[in-house]
Amino acid sequence: MAASGLQIKDEDNGYNKNLFCVPKHYEEDLERVFIPHGLILDRTERLARDIMQDMGQHHIFALCMLKGGYKFFADLMDYIKALNRNTDQSVPITVDFVRLKSYCNVLVVEDIIETGRTIQMLLSKIKDYEPQMVKVVSLLVKRTNRSSGYRPDYIGFEIPDKFVVGYALDYNEYFRDLNHICILNEKAKEKYKI
Ligand code: HPA
Ligand code: MG
Repeated sequence: MAASGLQIKDEDNGYNKNLFCVPKHYEEDLERVFIPHGLILDRTERLARDIMQDMGQHHIFALCMLKGGYKFFADLMDYIKALNRNTDQSVPITVDFVRLKSYCNVLVVEDIIETGRTIQMLLSKIKDYEPQMVKVVSLLVKRTNRSSGYRPDYIGFEIPDKFVVGYALDYNEYFRDLNHICILNEKAKEKYKI
């Protein structure tokens, strides 16, 4: 079953940044808040439930794709841990950061899928380890004509072809320390260019 995630339309421009709290050091760089932190968390909570419904019989080996995936990974794991505490269904989870383990369920946690090439490359490597089951969850999937057509098993949000930062997604390593997913203004793209 193909996942589609919460659809954000091409014409959706997000929110006025002055209606949210953002760090002072990025205030002048941001154009709009695109996906507020609270919405990211709410969507992640539901993804955790969906994933556990599909995977929740065996030990899960969760693989975090650094660096951009670390926030989503940490929050998704927190929600899965909450389900383990509060529902009858409970499975142990081990975590790692790109190293591969064999013979368990593998959950690959990605921040964003754009062309799909990185994840396809990784999946072909994971296959060598013959895991029982491999599922991929990506917080964001971009609608772009550069896409190879790859779709992950779970999608947080499907977004237009715009460059976004925040919630661990970066522009030249900046903006990972921003809670909301935002769109940069043109001046900031120059300012942080390398
Ligand atoms: N933002 C940050 N990193 C990315 C993006 C993006 O929109 N697309 C691919 N990597
Ligand atoms: Mg990056």
